[in-house]
Amino acid sequence: MAHNFEFYAPTKVIFGKDAEKETGRQIKEWGAANVLIVYGGGSVKRSGLLEKVEKALSDEQIQFCELGGVVPNPHLDKVYEGIRIGRSKNVDFLLAVGGGSVIDTAKAIAYGLAEPEKDVWELFEHTRTAKMCIPVASVLTIAAAGSETSKGCVITNEKTKQKRAYDDNLARPKFAIMNPDYTKSLPDYQTESGCVDIMMHTMERYFTNGGNMEITDAIAEGLLRTVMKNAVVVHHKPGDENARAEIMWAGSIAHNDLTGCGNDGGDFMTHKLEHELGGMFDVTHGAGLAALWPSWARYVYRECLPRFVRYARNVMGITMEGTDEEIAEAGIYAMEDFYHSIGMPTNLKELGIHPTSAQIEDMAKRCIIASGTQTGSAKKLTQEDAVRIYTNALG
Ligand code: NZQ
Ligand code: ZN
Repeated sequence: MAHNFEFYAPTKVIFGKDAEKETGRQIKEWGAANVLIVYGGGSVKRSGLLEKVEKALSDEQIQFCELGGVVPNPHLDKVYEGIRIGRSKNVDFLLAVGGGSVIDTAKAIAYGLAEPEKDVWELFEHTRTAKMCIPVASVLTIAAAGSETSKGCVITNEKTKQKRAYDDNLARPKFAIMNPDYTKSLPDYQTESGCVDIMMHTMERYFTNGGNMEITDAIAEGLLRTVMKNAVVVHHKPGDENARAEIMWAGSIAHNDLTGCGNDGGDFMTHKLEHELGGMFDVTHGAGLAALWPSWARYVYRECLPRFVRYARNVMGITMEGTDEEIAEAGIYAMEDFYHSIGMPTNLKELGIHPTSAQIEDMAKRCIIASGTQTGSAKKLTQEDAVRIYTNALG
């Protein structure tokens, strides 16, 4: 039986060639006077996108200032820097030009500017909830995190090595500009990590032990098959425009909650285990997910068997006869083959990291503390379970 749900996906999407030219007009509709443009390490300068976006703002007589230098697994210090700039320039709108790290930095700055007397990190420690947030929008350059339509925001406190998420509809972006052409300049590793992340956002909502709907499953399975097919296409032909467009749109649908309607809130433990890897080892998020998922799947599948069988049949195309366990296991092996086929790792060794036992204990402890009561749906995990999943993933 499906659970009751609320579906709230208010982000306006402007998709396709030259979409970035719309940026100024869209911001004007929100009545913004002073925009802070946030970007990363320079890809948007090299591609010429930043210049085009700034022209679009100037054409509408919108004032703006800039904050560059956001790194992947974005840092809290950059958020504080943005809040300081935002206060001094009376910023009333955040525009992220980049990927998930840039968008999440913009969201965190927006929370900080809306409640200036409070420390924004408290949100990520879950010691308070946000009451306000100034508007955020994005011009997306990588299909991956889904932050362009999601309520999520993930920031790393680089001093304590804590990578933490805060989810709130207040920060759902007002609009997302998506021109798939701009994703052609991505390094292959980032493209493929993005495909894994998109798939994982759907899979986290799929492997549950509570509440499923036929329509939600059909959307999820179709999305997963589409991303797999097109990930292979761009792996061999990075310039394929159709494949880039399919993947980009899938990225937004995968994490705007559509693929979770009716379920129990999803599992999300692969994500939570990965966030600890990101905090401690600064790995690329999607690749980290690929390296952990097989270990997680083998650890939990017996407790969520019907979903793993369905996945094997409807997503991985497993046709063999056998017991449910054999079919589920074949689905997991097929997933590993797919990851390898696009150059993604299936364990931590292939990811290039070698955590010690002490580091695994530390990550497991932090992961379970950060998860609070939400420690999974396919199987509720304890700290000991988390240690085993990390250990089995060593390779
Ligand atoms: O910094 P620049 O120079 O722009 O380079 C970036 C960065 O090095 C590069 N890149 C992006 N677009 C490019 C490009 N290079 C060439 N051409 C382009 N068009 O790609 C690298 C990765 O960028 P990043 O923004 O980190 O990628 P992604 O979108 O995968 O974001 C990852 C972050 O999002 C978080 C992750 O944990 C991670 O911190 N997530 C956020 C979520 C959310 N807010 O809802 C949900 C996700 O599960 C995820 O946790
Ligand atoms: Zn993710």
